[in-house]
Amino acid sequence: MILYFSGTGNSLYVAKKLAELTGDTAVPISAIHERCQRIQDRIIGFVFPVYFGDLPDPVQDFIRQVRFQKSTYFYGIATCGSTAGRALKTMDRILQRQQCALSYGAVLPMIANSTIASRRHIRYDTNRLDHADELIAAAADKIRRQIRDTDAIRSSASAWLMNLGLVRRAGERWLTPSVDGERCIACGLCARICPVSNIICTAKRAVIGSHCSHCLACVHWCPQQAVTVHGKKVLAEDQYHHPDVTAADMTRR
Ligand SMILES: Cc1cc2nc3c(=O)[nH]c(=O)nc-3n(C[C@H](O)[C@H](O)[C@H](O)COP(=O)(O)O)c2cc1C
Ligand code: SF4
Ligand code: SF4
Repeated sequence: MILYFSGTGNSLYVAKKLAELTGDTAVPISAIHERCQRIQDRIIGFVFPVYFGDLPDPVQDFIRQVRFQKSTYFYGIATCGSTAGRALKTMDRILQRQQCALSYGAVLPMIANSTIASRRHIRYDTNRLDHADELIAAAADKIRRQIRDTDAIRSSASAWLMNLGLVRRAGERWLTPSVDGERCIACGLCARICPVSNIICTAKRAVIGSHCSHCLACVHWCPQQAVTVHGKKVLAEDQYHHPDVTAADMTRR
């Protein structure tokens, strides 16, 4: 089973591609019921974005909540803008608490969806996605052969810095979305797409709750550009999602 978490489709794309190449099934973490206590598959992959040089909280919580088998071959694939920081190391540490371990980890630099918070007229370099395809094929080959390769599973000083209390909180504030009630047409897409069910849509507008994972899905997918980050209006040309992933793919659970 390939378990994925995704806001703008990079990780979803990688999970689906790996599923195709390895004959496995890709399932969003949000589709696994919160009362699920045990996953017994012999091969389990996790595909996820890097947030603040680390593993997203919903993925951490999920791995802590579920019990796995010691003998399972675990692998982790981190999609990111440039570097995975300590994300794979964190995953390995959490697995080790239940006597499991990552056998293989890989980092796929794709497109940094967080750039939208700091720049305008971005012009994403989608050529990077072709390179990611090559890395996915190489990863699939290792997974099929259940190769052990832990080179990418390491810590990083910059990730440690990024996760110091105040620094991390400042980063989260910077990437906190809010809804511009004037622009919102209450279509409900953001509520269906939010991977942690943190948005409700009333008859008038969307309302964002208090347990945001900062995935920026609502910011990038809103057809009205009604979701702002730290109050900054978003331009349609700066909204990003993986070109082969649709809103329907994101809402399919
Ligand atoms: C809150 C947040 C923090 C991020 N932090 C990092 C980071 O530390 N390093 C990095 O290379 N990319 C970072 N990114 C970029 C994402 O990891 C990257 O765009 C990822 O491929 C998105 O995956 P998705 O499309 O599946 O959501 C960050 C993105 C967000 C939303
Ligand atoms: S996707 Fe945009 S327009 Fe639709 S409900 Fe959400 S904020 Fe409003
Ligand atoms: S509210 Fe928006 S940014 Fe926060 S978790 Fe939901 S979709 Fe992601």
